[in-house]
Amino acid sequence: MKCAIILAGGKGTRMKADCPKVMCNVIFKPMIDYVIDAVKEAGVKDICVITGYKHEVVEEHLSPDIKTALQEPQLGTGHAVMQARDFINSHKDDKILILNGDGPLMDAETINKAYDYHEENNNSITLISAIVEDTEGIGHIKRDENGTLLRIVEHKDATEEEKKINESNAGCYWFNGADLLYALDNITNENAQNEYYLTDSLEILINAGKNAGAYVVENSEVVLGANDRKQLNDLNNIMRRNINTKLMLEGVDIPCTDGVIIGKDVRIGNSTVILPNTIILGDTVIGDSCTIGPNSYLDNATVGNNVILDNCKILDSTVENDVDAGPFVKVRANSVLKKGVHIGNFVEVKNSVVGEGSKSAHLTYIGDSDVGSDVNFGCGTVTCNYDGKNKWRCKIGDGAFIGCNTNLIAPVEVGEKAYIAAGSTITDSIPDKALSIARARQVIKEGWVDIKKPYKEKK
Ligand code: UD1
Ligand code: CA
Repeated sequence: MKCAIILAGGKGTRMKADCPKVMCNVIFKPMIDYVIDAVKEAGVKDICVITGYKHEVVEEHLSPDIKTALQEPQLGTGHAVMQARDFINSHKDDKILILNGDGPLMDAETINKAYDYHEENNNSITLISAIVEDTEGIGHIKRDENGTLLRIVEHKDATEEEKKINESNAGCYWFNGADLLYALDNITNENAQNEYYLTDSLEILINAGKNAGAYVVENSEVVLGANDRKQLNDLNNIMRRNINTKLMLEGVDIPCTDGVIIGKDVRIGNSTVILPNTIILGDTVIGDSCTIGPNSYLDNATVGNNVILDNCKILDSTVENDVDAGPFVKVRANSVLKKGVHIGNFVEVKNSVVGEGSKSAHLTYIGDSDVGSDVNFGCGTVTCNYDGKNKWRCKIGDGAFIGCNTNLIAPVEVGEKAYIAAGSTITDSIPDKALSIARARQVIKEGWVDIKKPYKEKK
């Protein structure tokens, strides 16, 4: 059985964040989520996360199937793993994967290839390493003249000569359970940082006569971690490029990637075009042949086929096939725009269902409403859903015609094919096919201006 320990106890001093470092976002998602996804995708069943600094933030975030162990205080990566002794004891005969929670680019394929390498060579410890350009702050992999592994030297402990070694420890290792326990018993804190380094396990197990190996990855990006905001930005850029590239190869058209930020869990269909400055996040699913953007923001949206979203913000809502929305449309949580709906500039929809083929072309607020099909909203319609205390719903029947500048004071029902005269404030429900006019009758006062002289007379 494969199991894993993920290190997430560190404060991340260099990040200068008020959250635990692993909760810092890459493409709007905490780094630790990527690590957990990769571990799960690699087929690991039992996962234990080591928490420490602001542990409650991490604990609250994790899904219930993930175990945790608390590290208090935080005395290094080796010390972190020591806090999971019970977990390791229950996996003595298993292979245990240990990874840093701040390395979101590590992927399932690399984890599994390292596992195969570990098994084939009958290793006690297999670490993942890469040849990197920037050696600042890394753990340097020290080998002898024959290339045999010796130990890992942390940058802060390294001599000038060792600092030139460009093979970097990824912070991702496979251990045999029992050998890990042995290594933990022998780690000390005699180093520049007075920390218990997990990396010392390598030398400890080699000295005990065990097999040790390094699985060297070709793509050095997978081993990158983020210790500060600059590195976090580097990870964002790499992740963004990787996601966009994958989508393009799957048939999504991104003619210009400027400002296009798409989350890793987003799914997008064939021949859909994503235009600049468009951010698509969460569990958003978009169908085929849509045009999304420019300047759109979708979070947890479900979008059908042939949909146009131009300068739209769509949050936790569903947009069905053939909808045409924008520019400058906001669809807030729990809304459904049914097939063929058209909503135009400066229209906001909240917690409402807008039925098939209904149109609201300009300057309208549809809140807490159940709108039937083929309803026509005149410009400037407002559902007055809030009385200062409670929210109320409006119900609008199929084929209703709402004149321009109508206020619908909820709760109110508009019947099927009913008409509302422009400028009406509707307080009472309207039967099917009726016309409702709710405004003061027009009065004309002939010659009023000359009598009243409502202006300053010019001298
Ligand atoms: C570590 C490795 C280094 C490797 C690098 C790769 C050690 C000693 N060094 O260095 O060889 O090249 O990762 O990115 O392991 N953590 C705890 N408790 C602690 C300290 C850290 O849980 O007491 C967690 C952190 O939250 C983080 C991970 O362990 O997720 C790594 O810690 P970090 O301080 O970033 O280690 P590096 O200096 O990057
Ligand atoms: Ca790190």
